[in-house]
Amino acid sequence: MKFNFNEEISRKNTNSTKWDSIDQVFGCTEVLPLWIADMDLACAPAIVEALTKRAQHPIYGYGHIPEEFFEAAINWGAKRFGTKINREWLTTVPGVVPALNLAIDAFTKVGDEVIIQPPVYYPFFSVVKNNGRNLVENPLIEQDGYYYMDLDDLEKKITSKTKLLILCSPANPVGRVWSREELNALVEVCKKHKIIIIADEIHADLVYEKGTHIPFYSISEDAANMSITFMSPSKTFNIAGLFSSLAVIPNPDLFTEFTHSILRASLENLNIFGIEAVIAAYNEGDEWLDELLIHLKGNAEYIHNYLKKHIPEVKMKVTEATYLGWLDFRDLGLTCDELNKFLVKDAKLGCNEGRVFGSNGKGFMRLNYACSRKTIEEAMVRLDQAVRKLKVCVNE
Ligand SMILES: Cc1ncc(COP(=O)(O)O)c(C=O)c1O
Repeated sequence: MKFNFNEEISRKNTNSTKWDSIDQVFGCTEVLPLWIADMDLACAPAIVEALTKRAQHPIYGYGHIPEEFFEAAINWGAKRFGTKINREWLTTVPGVVPALNLAIDAFTKVGDEVIIQPPVYYPFFSVVKNNGRNLVENPLIEQDGYYYMDLDDLEKKITSKTKLLILCSPANPVGRVWSREELNALVEVCKKHKIIIIADEIHADLVYEKGTHIPFYSISEDAANMSITFMSPSKTFNIAGLFSSLAVIPNPDLFTEFTHSILRASLENLNIFGIEAVIAAYNEGDEWLDELLIHLKGNAEYIHNYLKKHIPEVKMKVTEATYLGWLDFRDLGLTCDELNKFLVKDAKLGCNEGRVFGSNGKGFMRLNYACSRKTIEEAMVRLDQAVRKLKVCVNE
């Protein structure tokens, strides 16, 4: 491998949320942080080079987003997914969560209903509720650790007030890459009821089997007409702190409404370093990403195999995408509070609690495995020892 994803890089004292707020988040300084979704891995050298070059110019005034930025995104879509993005479909957004807020503002009114599919990325709940819209849950169905959409339930939940569905594709935290059949079926239901689909595709590049992820705008003409897709290099290239993403909106009416929303919120600008990073990532990041995916999948397989062999009470499927493992602790028979305490105080692991992703996340923990293999090995040893101790206590 050309790039070293096993280099241990300390992030302490870099104002890192993951590492520098452990005490506030977990109430304990000794946890190994495996929570918030960024990577403990150096980003692609081409990005570091582009940022260093820009930083050396000592004026950091307002930025202009050059055409090269949009061309890089269009080429990325063609290279990685074989899709064709038209230039007039593209606009920028500082981040995907701000963009979800913008979409809610653009396409719904207070009191309208917005559907989400838990277990799902927890800000999906808050963006709906904080904007005074009514949250409707269409839970995913779990079968042996694998998750499916429940479109029968979806149809039952839709009313005349339902305006929007927020789709997580690929899905965080359950790691699913939605199949063409599933996406087509979802489009059919939503088209019938005139529901706009907001496809959060922030994890689209982190798919382990090439060609399996289908960008929403490319599914069909219907899908393109009734959707907004958010694409972003932030998770892919570990540049989430630079806040620079894109929205792909083929329908000109939706495009206009969305851009009005951006202007109302004064969010049309990007960080000047973000602009440089996106261009470098999309133009030069291919090879780095291919190697990253091998490393990440290796970590996922390591965890899966370790659990199976040494801690069969805890299960994790190798995800189809993302670097987030969805660990099933239900066999330990602990309540949510007990499980949380067990992870933090006994195993000394800082994961995301499953229940924040929805009530069907109870008994699960989300573990971020975008780090060195050594860190993952350490995490598994900590978990193993804690589970053994727990079993001894139960048997006493
Ligand atoms: C599905 C999903 N959407 C959005 C985000 C965050 O996006 P941003 O940092 O661009 O607001 C995350 C981060 O984990 C995510 O998993």
